[in-house]
Amino acid sequence: MPIRLQRSLGRRRAIFLGLEMMAGIGAFTAISQFRNAQTQAQNQVLQRDFTVSGTAPLRDRAARKGLFYGAAVLRSQLAKDAEFAKSVARECNILVSIGEFKWDMLRVQPDRFNFEPADVLVKFARTHNMRLRGHTLVWHQALPLWVESTMNNLNAREIMVDHISTVVRRYAGAVHSWDVVNEAIKPEEGREDGLRYTPWLNFLGPNYIDLAFRTAAAADPKAMLVYNEFGLDYDTPGANAKRTAVLNLLTRLKNSGTPIHGLGIQAHLGREGKAKLKPAQLRQFLRNVADLGLKILITEMDVTEKAFPTDIQLRDRGIAALYEDYLSIVLEEPAVIAVLTWGLSDRYTWLSTAEPRSDESPVRPLPLDAQMNRKFAWNAIARSFDKTTKRSPVA
Ligand code: G3I
Repeated sequence: MPIRLQRSLGRRRAIFLGLEMMAGIGAFTAISQFRNAQTQAQNQVLQRDFTVSGTAPLRDRAARKGLFYGAAVLRSQLAKDAEFAKSVARECNILVSIGEFKWDMLRVQPDRFNFEPADVLVKFARTHNMRLRGHTLVWHQALPLWVESTMNNLNAREIMVDHISTVVRRYAGAVHSWDVVNEAIKPEEGREDGLRYTPWLNFLGPNYIDLAFRTAAAADPKAMLVYNEFGLDYDTPGANAKRTAVLNLLTRLKNSGTPIHGLGIQAHLGREGKAKLKPAQLRQFLRNVADLGLKILITEMDVTEKAFPTDIQLRDRGIAALYEDYLSIVLEEPAVIAVLTWGLSDRYTWLSTAEPRSDESPVRPLPLDAQMNRKFAWNAIARSFDKTTKRSPVA
C-alpha cells in the first residue's frame, strides 16, 4: 500500500479515533451531569420537610378551611374490609363511588337497575356524616353490552334521558354532586369543538352534554352538577390543548344557560412522564374556570410512580412532593372546594394493574399504605390543608 495512502489512512484513523474519544468524553460528561442532577434532586427530596402538626385526620383539616377531603371507594371494599372502612370513616368527609353509579354496575339490563350497591354507599356516607359524589352519568366507558348492541340514533336520547332521570331522581338529597358527563374532550380527534367521538356524540350530536345537564337538573335541582376531565394539569401540548377545549366547552355551556355548577379535575399526577407543572399557567386556568361562576373539585388525585426509584423512602417522599407541589397551586384558588384521592390506601388502587412497576414492587400512590398507616403522601395533603386559606363552606 503506497506510503502516501498509509499516511492519509493513518491521519483519518487518528481523526476518527479523536472524534470517538471526544464523543466518549462528551457522553461520559452528560451521564455524570445527569447522575449529579439526579443525586441533587434525590437529596432535595430526602431533605424536604414534611412535618405535620398534630394527628387530626384529613377530613378535619379540610373542614377547618371549608373544604371536603375524601376518596374513591367500592361498596365491596367497605363491606369486606373493616380496617379499611374504619380508615375511610376517620379520614374522609366526602366519598365518590368507583363503580356503583356506572352503567355496567347500575343498569345491567335496559329495564333492570341494580341500586343495592349504591344504596350501601349512601348509607355509609350518611352514617359517617359524609357527602357522596355520583360518578358518572354519561361516559363512553363502563357501558354494558346491551347499550353497545341496542343504542342507535333513534333511541339514544330516550335511553340517556331515562337513565339520568331515573338515577338522579332516586338519589335526590343523597348524592351531593354528580359527574354528569365524564371525559368528553379529546382535541387530538380533530373536531373544532375538541369533543371526543363517543356513542353519545355520534348518536345525539354535541348538544348531548347540554341535554345531560338539563335532565339531571330537572331530576334534582339541588345537586351540584359537574363536568369531569383528566389531563389538565401539566405544561404539555396535549394538556394545553385540553385546557383550552375544556374552557371553551364550559364557556359555551354557561353562555347557553346550561345548569352546570362545577369542573372536576381528575389530577392523575405523574402520568405524563417528565412533564412539569407550570404554576402560573395552572392558576390562570383555574381562575378562568372560576370566573365562569363554577366551583372546582379535584376529583381523582393519585400519583403514577412506576418511574420512581425502588427505595421506599425516596419513592414516598417523591410522591409526597408531587402532591404538595400540586395542592399548593390549586388550593390557592378559592373556587376549589374539594380534594378526593382515587383511593385512600395502597391496598386498593387501580394503579396496581394499570401502572405496575418494572421492579414488581407494589405501587405506593395513596395517603395510607397497604397496612393503613399514614405516609408522607398523607403528610403532604395534611400540610396543604393546614396552609391554605379558609373558604366559605359549600353546602
Ligand atoms: O365489581 C365487579 C366484580 O363484581 C367482578 O367480579 C369484576 C370482574 O372483573 O369486575 C368488577 O368490576 C370492575 C370495576 O372496576 C370495580 O372493580 C370492572 O370490571 C372494571 O372495569 C372497573 O374498572 C374501573 C374503571 O374506572 C372502569 O369503570 C376502575 O376500577 C376504576 O379505577 C376506573 O376509574 C376511572 C374513573 O372512573 C374515570 N377516570 C379514570 C379512572 C381510572 O381509569
